[in-house]
Amino acid sequence: MKSSFKLVAGMALTLAVGAAFAAAPNWDKVPAKKITLFYPGTAAMEWITKGTEHGGAKAVKKGERCIDCHEEEAADIGNKIVSGQKLEPAPIKGKAGSIPLTVQAAHDAENLYVRMTFKSPAASGAAKMDADNQVKAAFMLEDGGKADLAAQGGCWGTCHADARTMPGGKDDKKKYIAGGSVASGKYLDLVQWQSGKKAKPVDGSVAETRNMSGGTSLVSAEGKNAGGTWTVVFTRKLAGNPAAGDVALAAGKQYNIGFAVHDDHAAGRFHHVSFGYTLGLDDAKANINAVKQ
Ligand code: HEC
Repeated sequence: MKSSFKLVAGMALTLAVGAAFAAAPNWDKVPAKKITLFYPGTAAMEWITKGTEHGGAKAVKKGERCIDCHEEEAADIGNKIVSGQKLEPAPIKGKAGSIPLTVQAAHDAENLYVRMTFKSPAASGAAKMDADNQVKAAFMLEDGGKADLAAQGGCWGTCHADARTMPGGKDDKKKYIAGGSVASGKYLDLVQWQSGKKAKPVDGSVAETRNMSGGTSLVSAEGKNAGGTWTVVFTRKLAGNPAAGDVALAAGKQYNIGFAVHDDHAAGRFHHVSFGYTLGLDDAKANINAVKQ
């Protein structure tokens, strides 16, 4: 009895020490990438890929990435759309066109750590779409560019004109990848942190449809607000299980990644999103370099 108690106590101590170590990269030493999150309105992938609507459609088909043309002007695009000048039939008064985001990434032998830092713009005062959560922060990962537009535009291929919060969308349509399935590797791995008191971190995926569960790689997602600036840290096992909709991360390869923030109690498409970026482990050529700690 006594000796087994000792054993259990010893194991608990080991676990606690391990967890404390895992949760604490030294962020001061991690390079910071500035990304502009912008308001996309109804610019679904159908619009993006239609040559008669989007000036970049042909180039995207040839493999050019959104940031090749748009990285510097993302805030202007957001302002144009949020004001209702283009691609937004129902503008929300007072909503911000863009949100500057700082992304940092690090890893150790076990985990990837992703830190998102951003300031909430002034509240629009509009009706709360998600009363429970003032803020939600998410990213999606993709391996190999199998999912539509993932290599060019990160999450863009999951956003469709028939999604339920689009004008004329179908009630049962969420994000999805056309012809996607976890089994075929044509999916995006999704994690999300929500600011609500009762909220639990989401570890899901987007394939035939959006699943807000099923993933097994997310260790934790923690966020805090200091004077209006949010800091959200995701801890995620490198060895994700692709059969569960996780992307397995390894050195020597780049992955596609996109970010989104639902600010101001937003839901559905009324978020701020990034174009697509690459993530690599100790890879200075990747847009976001997860450095070893
Ligand atoms: C070859 C360059 C090029 C690429 C690559 C490209 N675009 Fe564009 N995009 C354009 C041009 C040109 C316009 C029209 C701009 C205008 O009318 O002032 C445009 C317009 C837009 C707009 C409407 C806002 C505006 O200012 O008119 C959005 C949204 C957009 N692009 C998103 C994307 C996304 C998402 C991707 C990647 C999947 C992408 N673009 C890739 C050239 C490009």
